[in-house]
Amino acid sequence: VPRNWEDYYSNPENLDHSPAPLLVEVAEWLPPGRALDLGCGAGRNALYLASLGWEVTAVDASPAALRALRQRAAGCNIEVCQADLESGPFRIAPERFDLICDFYYLQRTLFPAIRQGVKPGGVFVAAIHLEAAAGGPPPPAYRVQPGELWKQFADWKILFYSEAPEPGRLRPTARLAARRM
Ligand SMILES: C[S@@+](CC[C@H](N)C(=O)[O-])C[C@H]1O[C@@H](n2cnc3c(N)ncnc32)[C@H](O)[C@@H]1O
Repeated sequence: VPRNWEDYYSNPENLDHSPAPLLVEVAEWLPPGRALDLGCGAGRNALYLASLGWEVTAVDASPAALRALRQRAAGCNIEVCQADLESGPFRIAPERFDLICDFYYLQRTLFPAIRQGVKPGGVFVAAIHLEAAAGGPPPPAYRVQPGELWKQFADWKILFYSEAPEPGRLRPTARLAARRM
């Protein structure tokens, strides 16, 4: 059952303010530029990038999540977009972003647009829930198979890839940072 994100983000206890460790790491390698955060939630990663001087577009379908983001984004360089990425009008403009982030949001049909949306030399960074073992029944829509995320970007320069347990997280994830050639 998909989570009810409205209820989830309406509870202040669910507002996680610390950015994803992999994003913190990747941001250390890159000069600030233009970034896109897909399924940004309450915006912990978008806010972190903006604090480093990035110009950020943050997209999510949940009004409650974006309300929480807007409350903290005053004065930050963040364009907040409410859009359903599966059906809405939001399109990732080709070769527009120095960095595209995707943390814990999986929509397989978005990968071609992500690949086009990153400028040559730019980076895609993601952490996505992982199906524990390959070869079983098809994974739920929001989890990748082992190796699947890597394969989507196999022709990019893979800067980091791991399916190892993430400290402090119960559920397994696949994590990737890759540079478009
Ligand atoms: C697990 S949360 C991750 C939030 C954020 N990336 C983070 O790491 O804190 C997944 C997010 O995806 C959003 N989402 C789910 N389906 C969506 C869709 N079709 N279009 C846009 N956002 C969607 C939810 O509203 C939720 O904020």
